[in-house]
Amino acid sequence: MAQLLTVSRAAHLLGLTRADMQKHIASSVLPSHDGMVSTDDLLKLYPEVRLEDSGAFERITKIREEAFGKRIRERILPNQEILAQRLAAQSEELDDVRKHLAHYHDLIEALRERIDHMAHASASEQLADLGEFLDQGLAGVLGSEEPTDTLAVMDDMLRVMAAHVTVKPSGHEFFVEGSETVLKAALRAGLAPAYGCGNGNCGLCKARIISGEVKQTLHSDYPLSANERTQGYALLCSHTAVSDLVIEILEASSPDDIPEQDIVAKVRSVAPLADNIMLLHLQTPRTNRLRFLAGQRVTLSVTGSTANFRAEYPIASCPCDDRNLLFHIRRDESDEFARRLFSGALKANDPVSLFGPFGDFVLQKESTNDVVFVVCDTGFAPVKSLVEHAVASDLPGALRLVWAATESSGHYLENQCRAWADALDTFSFVTLSAADAAAAGTAAAARVLADEDIRQRDVYVVGPPDFVATVELSLAAAGLPANQLRSEVL
Ligand code: FES
Repeated sequence: MAQLLTVSRAAHLLGLTRADMQKHIASSVLPSHDGMVSTDDLLKLYPEVRLEDSGAFERITKIREEAFGKRIRERILPNQEILAQRLAAQSEELDDVRKHLAHYHDLIEALRERIDHMAHASASEQLADLGEFLDQGLAGVLGSEEPTDTLAVMDDMLRVMAAHVTVKPSGHEFFVEGSETVLKAALRAGLAPAYGCGNGNCGLCKARIISGEVKQTLHSDYPLSANERTQGYALLCSHTAVSDLVIEILEASSPDDIPEQDIVAKVRSVAPLADNIMLLHLQTPRTNRLRFLAGQRVTLSVTGSTANFRAEYPIASCPCDDRNLLFHIRRDESDEFARRLFSGALKANDPVSLFGPFGDFVLQKESTNDVVFVVCDTGFAPVKSLVEHAVASDLPGALRLVWAATESSGHYLENQCRAWADALDTFSFVTLSAADAAAAGTAAAARVLADEDIRQRDVYVVGPPDFVATVELSLAAAGLPANQLRSEVL
């Protein structure tokens, strides 16, 4: 018997993205039943489906894992207790189905006896026919050799490994894998839930569990009131999902929903990405993580008796890893922070204050347009964060990157772009070189206009002032609507 699955669960099973599934539904290749898809229809579309066929899924998962900064093994398997609880929940479901089946079987047998009795009493031929029909039906139920529904079996396995979460009121969906907390799973899926410390202290992540069961896996000091407990509230940063859940949470829909935060982080490492570009890796305390949207920036400052310098930089990492923050910093003698960094003033474990986040150079998630990023030099930093976030969020549109550089080492993470292009059908990129920012802007805009119908695109431009101004002018003159353009001057 065919089983109905949510689009997310079906995509998860087949190793596809949710966007792929939605394309099949939109083109009527895959029927949708009130937003669900049937295992029969999926098997018709993918007759050779096997768990191990999920190469594309694994590649995308790897990108998400790298963005999240975690090793897969740390969270892919639930711990024994969660595993046992998920198995118990599934066994209860199975037991319920068995009881129903046995009940229907008894009912049909009783009906068969009654018909026999009536057939003898009235000798009616129709009743005898009906009795024979029931005999055949019962034999079919008991001796059925219907082939196993592969996808239904895989879905049962997935239910044990990962719990499906539906968020109200947004309707967003994600999976809690292994024993990870619901908060971590939501961040990994590109959602922007309300939270603070990430450590069970502030209570900002409390959410109402509308249905399903959660279990506390991490310690928390925040006391939920008796009333909150009765209403089903739980802290998402300290609970995992035992069964599929429906939860009610507040999500940030714009930068205005993210509060400014003041955090003292530590330098994890400083390493060159190219001759003139340094990668600064900061780590926040476990109890005070930075909540931000992809594409935003923060102020970094170092204060002390011998040093006092600050600067504002875009974050080059995904909000799905809120502790490990990356920055691409270009050598610039007029920037005190960069000068100190290149002279070796910052070492591992040195404190650096973070203040922010700022800026509205963030994805317009409600848009279904394809996206073009037009970038110059270290303008790649916020775009890296945006691409990682778009992959995590399973955004439906294609992503195109046009990356212009004004110096020979300007495409300092071209390998990263190649890896994305290999792993994602939806990502493509091109690199350009130019003598200065204005020339880079002219070349990049020309390339965008040659490749794209920009009236159907959302365009994100980031780089030095001359670059941004040149690209903006060219694209506006070519008909790009103002509400489809976002820009950020570095
Ligand atoms: S984020 Fe602070 S208690 Fe969960």
